[in-house]
Amino acid sequence: MKTEHDIRLHTGRTMPAMGIGTWQLSRDTADTIAFALDLGYSMIDTSGDYGTQPGIGEGIKRSGKPRSDFYLVTKVEETDDAYQATRRNLDELALDHADLMLIHRPPRTGAGEALWRGLIRARQEGMTADIGVSNYRTDQIDALIRDTGEVPTVNQIEWSPFGHSPAMLDYANTKGIAIQAYSPLTRGHRLDDETLIGMAGKYGKTPAQLLIRWNIQNKVAPLPKANLRAHAEENFAVFDFEIEADDMGVLDRLNERFSALGSLPYE
Ligand SMILES: NC(=O)c1ccc[n+]([C@@H]2O[C@H](COP(=O)([O-])OP(=O)(O)OC[C@H]3O[C@@H](n4cnc5c(N)ncnc54)[C@H](OP(=O)(O)O)[C@@H]3O)[C@@H](O)[C@H]2O)c1
Repeated sequence: MKTEHDIRLHTGRTMPAMGIGTWQLSRDTADTIAFALDLGYSMIDTSGDYGTQPGIGEGIKRSGKPRSDFYLVTKVEETDDAYQATRRNLDELALDHADLMLIHRPPRTGAGEALWRGLIRARQEGMTADIGVSNYRTDQIDALIRDTGEVPTVNQIEWSPFGHSPAMLDYANTKGIAIQAYSPLTRGHRLDDETLIGMAGKYGKTPAQLLIRWNIQNKVAPLPKANLRAHAEENFAVFDFEIEADDMGVLDRLNERFSALGSLPYE
């Protein structure tokens, strides 16, 4: 579903305002994806190491949606040959191209320059429309740009009111890099926060919906994951309300550099 919140990338292409995450989407992956596409989700996030690509491919088929109706994001691993891994991911998904291919995380040494050149080649050959990174710090992105002149379209990082970085947002805005928010629901760890619960009551929404909407209003694309259909439905019902500016500020100030996965890797 196209919305006024869709995000324009520096390449001129548009990315949906939100998507469905699929890490540990183990329950009936194909049915869940078909269900999400029917609901109106148009972006799906996966990775070569999630094990969900075959199920996603099957779910897309079951949905009957034409290729132009969904935006597929996947990732190559830091130990991969990026060009070959792109082909392998597409084969698993039974797709001939991705919309966005990311480096999942920087390798132990260097910034992943060889991976980045592999993705540039994959894009030149039409295997993906756009390329980007995930879990990158600003200096590591700078190194990729220095090496190739190619600016990533996206940095996919952990991002929620409880854990985010104004410095990273400034950097991304300056470079024209869009942020995708992973673990936008804090993997459930902060859904019982009192401020959040109080504010959710004010808008007649749930804490999860508020966390998702905060990202959308900041032009950051959240990727909430949901095995439960009721969750997938609830998470998509975020386009019929607006968080007031003052309340956006209250949510911003919940920042405690929280990470559901141990630490914010971009800091
Ligand atoms: N690039 C990376 O390194 C990286 C790292 C982590 C994640 N990701 C991506 O980001 C996606 C999302 O992150 P995540 O899966 O870590 O965490 P998340 O989306 O913050 O949280 C998922 C958890 O929240 C639950 N949930 C979903 N909707 C809910 C709702 N409305 N109310 C209450 N609970 C709800 C889910 O339960 P059910 O599943 O039972 O419905 C699941 O346990 C991943 O699936 C993946 O695609 C990327």
